[in-house]
This record gives sequence, C-alpha cells and structure tokens, in this order.
Amino acid sequence: MVGASSGLGFAVAEEMAKRGYDLVLSSRNPQDAADAIRDRHGVRVEVVPGSISDPSVAASLADRAGALGGASALLLNHGGPPVKPLMGITDAEWSDAFGVMVTGPLRVLRALVPQMQTAGRGRVLAVSSFTVKAPYPGIALSNSLRAALVNALKTAALELGPEGILLNALAPGYVETNRIREWNDSYARQRNIGVEEVRKQALETIPLRRYGTPEGYARMAAFLLSEDNDYVSGQQILYDGALVTAN
Ligand SMILES: NC(=O)c1ccc[n+]([C@@H]2O[C@H](COP(=O)([O-])OP(=O)(O)OC[C@H]3O[C@@H](n4cnc5c(N)ncnc54)[C@H](OP(=O)(O)O)[C@@H]3O)[C@@H](O)[C@H]2O)c1
Repeated sequence: MVGASSGLGFAVAEEMAKRGYDLVLSSRNPQDAADAIRDRHGVRVEVVPGSISDPSVAASLADRAGALGGASALLLNHGGPPVKPLMGITDAEWSDAFGVMVTGPLRVLRALVPQMQTAGRGRVLAVSSFTVKAPYPGIALSNSLRAALVNALKTAALELGPEGILLNALAPGYVETNRIREWNDSYARQRNIGVEEVRKQALETIPLRRYGTPEGYARMAAFLLSEDNDYVSGQQILYDGALVTAN
C-alpha cells in the first residue's frame, strides 16, 4: 500500500487489514500508521519509508511483500502535486511531479507484478481524481499526469489481463481529508472568498449534497483490490456522489 499513512490511502490500508490482509505500508513517514493498524487489527504490517519517486522504494516493497508471501494487491497513491496555474509551472516542476505521479508508480508496478504473475492473480488500484475526467483550473499537474497514469494502467490491464491481473483507478470527487481541506483553503485564497463559500459552491455541484468519506472510498477500493472483484479491470471508477462536472 503506497501513500497509505493518512487520508484515503490510510483508510484503504485499514480496510484491507480488517479483511485480514498482511500489509506493507510505504510513504515518506509510514511508521505511526503501521503501528496503529497493527495494534487495531492484529495483522502483520511492514514499512518502507521513502517517496514513491525514490527508485529504492520499489525494490524494498518487492522484498518486504515477498517476505510476507507475495503481493496480491497493490495500492498506488501519493500526495497531490502543487496547486499552480498551467502558465506558471516550470520544467523542473513538471519533471518532479512526473517522478511522483508517473515514473514512481510504474516502477512500483514493475517491481510487484512479477509476484502476481507467479501467483497467477493480482489486483492493482491507483488513487486518481475526478479531474482526470473534468480538468479543473489551477491544477494542471494533477489533470495531466493522473491521466497519463490512468491510461498506462488501462494499457497494463490489456497486457496483463490474460495472467489474471486486474488493474483499475478509483477517482475521488470531494472526500473529507486533509488534502481536500488544503485544496479548499488554497481556492479560497486564490478567489479571495471565504473557505465556507468554496465548500458551499462545491456542495452545489454534488447531487448527494455532501462530501464523501475516506471509509466509503476505502470500502470501494477494498472491493476492487480483493478477489471479490472478479471482472472489473481497465476502468477509472468515480467515487464522487454523481459530481456534476465529472459525469
Ligand atoms: N481527498 C479528496 O477529495 C481528493 C480528491 C481528488 C484527488 N485526491 C488525490 O488523492 C490522493 C490522496 O488524497 P488524500 O486526500 O488522502 O491526501 P493526503 O491526506 O494528503 O494523503 C496523502 C498520502 O500520500 C503520502 N505521500 C505524499 N507524498 C508522497 C510521496 N512522494 N511518496 C509516497 N507517499 C506520499 C502521504 O504520506 P507521507 O506524508 O507520509 O508521505 C499520505 O499518506 C492525493 O493525490 C490527492 O490529490 C484527493
């Protein structure tokens, strides 16, 4: 489980632990999350500290997962990239974000898929965003690079399907985490309006009139990452309360 120390990733890791999966948690600081999940659910939890963009993380994940019996499910996640308008993004910022959002996840995929091929089954899920379907102003890095990863995973679904490996992306709309609170703060500053107004405007675009929950997202993710999912592959599925801009 990569990017699993807080927010959506943590909720997914915890849901998998509830279902009895042993875990390898990776993020820049995964230890507290690992301790919490181990204490609450009694499963084995290993950690691989480091950024998903660090090449050594992929190799360490494969080592730890192998020691736990082999990877059967892989979650690819990381924090959101800087919020900046397209015209202000430098080459270096594109390159850094590409390392975290595309090269890193695909390196981890390449490191762990062989264990799934050996087992003849596996599930992969990327945390994506509704903005892949409906690009949003001010977050060009996210709009563009998440689309690249989603299409790479669709390609992998075509290539690895015959080996029993199912790959999907689960795109949150607005889900109540620290990241979404920071996002709302940033938009409030950019538009010079209150954060409650940003939230109100967002809710008007969500037919369910509420934000999603990390736990609800995690239940959907755990379905896609487990053997319960026997036929869904190559999809980007929205967890978004029928968000008007994304459908
Ligand atoms: N919440 C929403 O409604 C929403 C909507 C659309 C898209 N998203 C996207 O979904 C993803 C998860 O969102 P969230 O709300 O759960 O965010 P979050 O609460 O900020 O969690 C991000 C997680 O990723 C880890 N992380 C950050 N940078 C990393 C890196 N370089 N390598 C590995 N792990 C890294 C963080 O742990 P460490 O700090 O320990 O590294 C943390 O566990 C983000 O990319 C976000 O942009 C969220």
